[in-house]
Amino acid sequence: MRKPIIAGNWKMNKTISEAAQLIGDIKRETLNQSVEAVLCVPYLSIGKAKEMTEGSGIKIGAQNMHWEENGAFTGEISPIMLNELKVDYVILGHSERRQYFNETDETVNKKVHSAIAHGIAPIVCVGETLEQRRDNRHKEIVRDQVKGAFLDIDKNDAKKTVIAYEPIWAIGTGETASSEQAEEMCALVRNTIEEIYDAETAESIRIQYGGSVKPGNVSELMSMDNIDGALVGGASLKSSDFVKLINY
Ligand code: 13P
Repeated sequence: MRKPIIAGNWKMNKTISEAAQLIGDIKRETLNQSVEAVLCVPYLSIGKAKEMTEGSGIKIGAQNMHWEENGAFTGEISPIMLNELKVDYVILGHSERRQYFNETDETVNKKVHSAIAHGIAPIVCVGETLEQRRDNRHKEIVRDQVKGAFLDIDKNDAKKTVIAYEPIWAIGTGETASSEQAEEMCALVRNTIEEIYDAETAESIRIQYGGSVKPGNVSELMSMDNIDGALVGGASLKSSDFVKLINY
């Protein structure tokens, strides 16, 4: 049985004091403990977020990291730094990082290796552009992204990861993929994991859908066989919405 996992990706939003306010508001509500709640906050707020969520069951994630442990990489954050803060998850290969910061399947793969080696669970993002979907290349693109991210990753390590299918055309646009479209692609991701490893690994790995998930569409998405969670941008920035998502 896969435990549902709903993660907020705050992206480049919230100062440390604003983050503290939002986490305080979330903590005042009762959260369904059978759903894993994760907050992927900006680096600067990770320390505060960990301190405030201790004992609450809420997990904390980073939104990116470098694969090296240290060195001359100005502006980067390493897995060792994240480990000191006891970060639970790290989002890797988000489409905004692929689009604006030149992330490739190769760098995503290096980061997946590094995160696993340092005991941080990766949330690996994949997803096609609108153009790729119109050209009917979305399945091939997503299959290749999964294969690229998991290159030479051991099967027991693969089981520790979460994969987020996020069609780029549905991110921040208000246009959600239909639950059938989301299910079809999450099933494709699971089949790809089965191709790389085996059926048991594919059955155990959790797959999220991301792209304009909100309180009004979360339960239908979560009712799909291959959708085990959601990676949420906009709706995770408002405590009442995020709480509704966790308590879907
Ligand atoms: P929105 O929920 O704002 O569409 O963002 C989705 C996303 O990119 C989560 O990583």
